[in-house]
Amino acid sequence: MEVNMDVHRSVPVLDWEPHLARRTAGMKSSAIRELLKLTQQPDVISFAGGLPASELFPIREVDEACRYILRTEGPKALQYSATEGHRPLKEYLATTMHKYGVPASAENILLTNGSQQALDLIGKIFLDPGDYVLTGSPTYLGAIQAWRAYQARFKTIPLDDDGMQVERLEEAYNAVVAETGRPPKFLYVLPNFHNPAGTTLPFERRDYLAEVATRLDLPVVEDDPYGELRYEGEDILPICTLIPERTIYLGTFSKTMTPGLRLGWIVCPEVLMQRFVQAKQGCDLHTGTFVQYIAADICQRGLLKPHVKRLREVYRERRDTMLDALAEFWPEGASWTHPHGGLFLWARVPEPLDTQELFHEAVREKVAYVPGINFYPNLDGGNNAMRLNFSYAQPELIVEGIRRLGNLLKRKLQGGD
Ligand SMILES: Cc1ncc(COP(=O)(O)O)c(C=O)c1O
Repeated sequence: MEVNMDVHRSVPVLDWEPHLARRTAGMKSSAIRELLKLTQQPDVISFAGGLPASELFPIREVDEACRYILRTEGPKALQYSATEGHRPLKEYLATTMHKYGVPASAENILLTNGSQQALDLIGKIFLDPGDYVLTGSPTYLGAIQAWRAYQARFKTIPLDDDGMQVERLEEAYNAVVAETGRPPKFLYVLPNFHNPAGTTLPFERRDYLAEVATRLDLPVVEDDPYGELRYEGEDILPICTLIPERTIYLGTFSKTMTPGLRLGWIVCPEVLMQRFVQAKQGCDLHTGTFVQYIAADICQRGLLKPHVKRLREVYRERRDTMLDALAEFWPEGASWTHPHGGLFLWARVPEPLDTQELFHEAVREKVAYVPGINFYPNLDGGNNAMRLNFSYAQPELIVEGIRRLGNLLKRKLQGGD
């Protein structure tokens, strides 16, 4: 039967706004996703997304795993499965994380659709409208977005080159109590290779944070997507090894395997597991069975470790390329962090330049970054800062992109258009 398209044109447009929940008014599209749309023209050199290098994805390993699983365990791998996650994968994660000192067992791990879902589940089970979250400024944009949807507010603690200034934690906590008469719900920290700041919290700060959190009876969310991507220095104990009873630790395969699988995990005290499981059941019943089988197969065959080793080599080189190019092409007065790992560095341009204002000009010059203000939950900083990703572009494009940005900055500083 042929459909008469004219019939569709005459359907009136409903005003949906009055039908929506009030909390949707606080929801915003991720600024980065919007920016990425602008930067997706093929000739733009993009330092904007947090993308891993796609040419390094373990495509052969995933292909082999898919075929092997379908041949040997097809009916189970394509079936619904437990909300908690695929047991062999949880056991692998528990064993691996134990080596880093994380107190994980198959019983206190929940597989999620990326750690972004973990952030959402945390919002779902912890946050009532108007509750405060303590976090660094700047902080991870996706967490702001997830928790705004639950009508959270943010009290921020500034970062310096060593990450969160933990000596100001108690002051922030007290300010929330003074304003609302109740404590903040939790502290959100990114101790390793911070997104966006590229900083790493030294052990002494982790230790002090653990002590203050214990004294204030404050839960801690430790988000650690980049911990395995260290390019220099020694691993530092995760916060959850110091205060396991009050830490919710988030891990992900997005940066070590591939983000398209959407696989992350929560490690939490066992008493919280049931809450997370209930919250997740309402979202999606469980994380995709098939993708969990694929990840488990790749891990169990010992293919992840060499892959991560290779990522470290390539990303270290790209980080160094970006640092060298910044030193060569950027004007005096600019500064940037020296990340020991991860995917980002945080650059500051000389005042009075404003990175938000410069963004569209940069895209016209075919180079993109994320303006710093987007990482400030209360929009109270970052005007002269930007986040630069160094994992995605090839080294020669990194040099060219940093050169173009440097030229734009110099021109602006000289008062040019
Ligand atoms: C700090 C941080 N947390 C969480 C995520 C979400 O990662 P995913 O959902 O891909 O696991 C990211 C992604 O870039 C991130 O940088």
